[in-house]
Amino acid sequence: MVKLDPWGASQVEDYARLRDEFGIGVLDEAAWSRIPDAHPLFTRGVVFGHRGMDPVLNAIERGDPFGVMTGLMPSGKMHLGHKAVIDQVVWYQNHGADVHVAIADFEAYAARNFTIEQARKLGIEEYVLTYLALGLKPGKSEVYYQSKRSRVKDLAYELGLHVNLNQMLALYGFPDDVKMAKMNAPLMQAADILHVQRAEFGGPRPTVVPVGVDQDPHLRLTRDVAGAVRIFNVTQTQDGKIGVFVKPEKPPRPVKELFDDVGRILRADLGFADLKRNDAYRALYLPAASLSDVPRIDLALAQYESKVLAEHGFFPPASTYHRFMTGLTGEKMSSSRPESSIFITDEPADVKKKLMRAKTGGRATEQEQREKGADPTVCSVYETYLYHVPDAKVLEEVYTECTTGKRLCGECKMQALGLLQTQLKELKEKREAARPLVKEIVSDA
Ligand code: TRP
Ligand code: SF4
Repeated sequence: MVKLDPWGASQVEDYARLRDEFGIGVLDEAAWSRIPDAHPLFTRGVVFGHRGMDPVLNAIERGDPFGVMTGLMPSGKMHLGHKAVIDQVVWYQNHGADVHVAIADFEAYAARNFTIEQARKLGIEEYVLTYLALGLKPGKSEVYYQSKRSRVKDLAYELGLHVNLNQMLALYGFPDDVKMAKMNAPLMQAADILHVQRAEFGGPRPTVVPVGVDQDPHLRLTRDVAGAVRIFNVTQTQDGKIGVFVKPEKPPRPVKELFDDVGRILRADLGFADLKRNDAYRALYLPAASLSDVPRIDLALAQYESKVLAEHGFFPPASTYHRFMTGLTGEKMSSSRPESSIFITDEPADVKKKLMRAKTGGRATEQEQREKGADPTVCSVYETYLYHVPDAKVLEEVYTECTTGKRLCGECKMQALGLLQTQLKELKEKREAARPLVKEIVSDA
């Protein structure tokens, strides 16, 4: 059994197995080919899995509104592994998404022993400046602090009514002496993700949360709780019928009134003429609907719940998972092991030192490498190309030359170094230029 610990050092050996064990969906070429100019992180399989992405891909395809929500825990320096998330966020933004980024200062306080003040400062200096430098544009995008947003804190509290201790233990395996603040962090994160679907932040719509796969427990919790607070459940019954069911024991209005409204929405807005109602069973069936209609029915009803009933009409948030970048030393990249990662703010000389010492897939001798070729799939330098060099031609060249023995690791490292140093230099200039934008994008509440 693979263990996923959002606050620990999860290193994953076998992503396909992980996906199967947790029921994470495959995200491959077939999915991305629906979208023109998919980001290299998607097409190269760095982003390898998802939950519930179909409605998001549909929204991108059709130009419908959709949101991106993600968060950062400011617990150290930002490294190249963190950059992968923001590259995706910027890509989504360029494809029409509205963007919300949480600075998880509460989580850093609860799980990493930072003061709220330290966490806030680190959030801006390390992360927000880099996000702006990487192309995140204010406007339809915002960054906020968990500690300052009442909507999120209130929602985290409310969601607590729908999650019990057994669920928390099953998901996180907390020890007996776990602090309540840390136990609350997942609810805080669920509230981060769901609050962007409240009316004042754009209402129910497809939302994607791009994160590292260690965050999957939080997403499972969030998707469960999003369903738990709903009034309607749209689903396929065992005999294959698509139905709308009223869930709460005491619905906010009589079932008859609710179904009158639902009937109107289904007929007038979604075009389902034939509806079979059974109010006593709190069920309404759509004989002409199929499984693929469920998301759009569910979305329409979530919007109705949100608008008319002023309830938590949350559409299940989607998530995507990227692979962790292996550290240069062969272990996971981590802010706490400087030699394992290249930090965004590293000086060129540091970058050189780290890269030259990096673990490669090279052979013991030059002669052997010339004869047999090397193995890029276990090479941290190759990973640097894979994650941070968008040019497909360069990547292909490195791969072929490496596996056929035309390329030696020393020269390969020098080329990677040149590409990285150029990127980091540019980033440094852009980070400074971005400083005035901080107050435009960071919300005070
Ligand atoms: N827990 C995340 C991390 O450790 C940070 C986070 C907070 C987050 N709120 C979020 C991520 C909402 C995605 C969505 O990095
Ligand atoms: Fe890695 Fe480059 Fe050496 Fe191949 S040649 S193993 S990609 S460093």
